Amino acid sequence: MTASLIAGNWKMNGHKADLAELDALIEGLGGATAPEVLLCPPATLVAGFAGRAAGSPVAIGGQDCHSEPAGAHTGDISAAMLADAGATAVILGHSERRADHGETDVLVAWKLVAAWAAGLRPILCVGETLEDRDAGRAEAVVARQLAASIPDTEETPAADLGARLVVAYEPVWAIGTGRTAGTADIAAMHGMIRARLAERFGEAGGAVPLLYGGSVKPGNAAEIFALADVDGALVGGASLKAADFLKIIAAAR
Ligand code: G3P
Repeated sequence: MTASLIAGNWKMNGHKADLAELDALIEGLGGATAPEVLLCPPATLVAGFAGRAAGSPVAIGGQDCHSEPAGAHTGDISAAMLADAGATAVILGHSERRADHGETDVLVAWKLVAAWAAGLRPILCVGETLEDRDAGRAEAVVARQLAASIPDTEETPAADLGARLVVAYEPVWAIGTGRTAGTADIAAMHGMIRARLAERFGEAGGAVPLLYGGSVKPGNAAEIFALADVDGALVGGASLKAADFLKIIAAAR
């Protein structure tokens, strides 16, 4: 086993008819429970997918949640609503949320608190832009996002972080572009993230699964999963079709 968790992020794609892809995914897994497989469809499909995936090896997650538990926030969805719909995890701080909705590290940190309060496992996304990388500040940007997006509050399950948090490194310039980061760059960034988490949270921090995201495909998954400190992938486009997603999952075994 070279990777323990493969997550799919459907972003703003998918309709009820795409339940067929979930069915094909479940059938293709044939009951295998390793690696862990998580699928994050748009909010409209969470309940339907969770109902269909119940009892299968596929867990269902959300793509975002509000930082408040309830209230006057038209169009938003709380962590408790996602849990109520059957989600067990939620992607937070994705670069598309940070860019399109101005989400800051501080807001993302509050969303983590909300997710934990609802019993969800957050998948915290961090990653630099091409401008950051070209300016030589990729590590500094990711380290800052990591430090500031994980809250310093009593709600942070510090002793249990390995089971309650996932971190995904997604270089913004590699998302949906067909460009993946070089293996040396991925390994270096994952090593830095692992070290920072261990420094801050000890053994529990070192046990947080680290996913790579950014144009992961059937053809490049195996070499990415072979890297030190890469525990899996957060897959966008290639998770939309069960046939491709199953090949990436197979590369993790
Ligand atoms: O969250 C997944 C992601 O942003 C990567 O997307 O399409 O490059 O695999 P993609």
